[in-house]
Amino acid sequence: MRKPIIAGNWKMYKTLGEARELVAGLLAGLGDATDREVVVCPPYTALASVGEQVANTGISLGAQEVFYEAQGAFTGAIAPQMLCDVGCRYVIVGHSERRQFFGDTDASVNRKLHAALANGLRPIMCVGESKPQRDAGEAEAIVTAQVRAGLAGVSAAQMAEVVIAYEPIWAIGTGDTATSADAQAMHAAIRATLAELFGAETAQTVRIQYGGSVKPDNIDELMAQPDIDGALVGGASLKADSFLRIIQFQ
Ligand code: G3P
Repeated sequence: MRKPIIAGNWKMYKTLGEARELVAGLLAGLGDATDREVVVCPPYTALASVGEQVANTGISLGAQEVFYEAQGAFTGAIAPQMLCDVGCRYVIVGHSERRQFFGDTDASVNRKLHAALANGLRPIMCVGESKPQRDAGEAEAIVTAQVRAGLAGVSAAQMAEVVIAYEPIWAIGTGDTATSADAQAMHAAIRATLAELFGAETAQTVRIQYGGSVKPDNIDELMAQPDIDGALVGGASLKADSFLRIIQFQ
């Protein structure tokens, strides 16, 4: 009942030409499967161009970040309506790299999530623990607290538009993916938290992606877990062949 969602987060990679080439390769190999959703999240500079390229195809457009104000003197920031204007359907909020390098907090993530929802964008809210936190046995407490804080003030009805991405920080870009059992355990803990917040029925409908060194050779096992509903893919989304293989998980 939860449609799997595979999203590529290109991070700070791809010029316009490279972005067009990658998307052309994806469109050529995508086929017409309708049982899974595919999203690409290029850097801001390539959004409008990729937006035109994927219009009316099986690929949806997402942004990697958004600011919570509608407009104003906020140099360097991008407003939700600007993302809608270039065809975005999704936007990532609270990625650990934004928390680490750009000062995002649970409170700012929450504001961005509300701004996205108010403008018809579907937020992909990232949560995840660091290695020291995991080693200290605090992973579940940290992650479920991030879920609660990030979703503060959201209604059960609005949860139909929200995707959660569990990305353990120590697994991002390291090749060191969480075991499928560890990932499943955290996804189940996140779903239990959603059940407390919004009721069991709503919790069963929310899609929870795993992110952190997802590759063609581990996607099948991850997707076989009952509470893993998709993947948020970094490095392996930058090449058409590897991203296509991930999209075609069994
Ligand atoms: O948002 C995706 C991400 O942080 C995972 O990156 O390169 O480990 O797949 P990567």
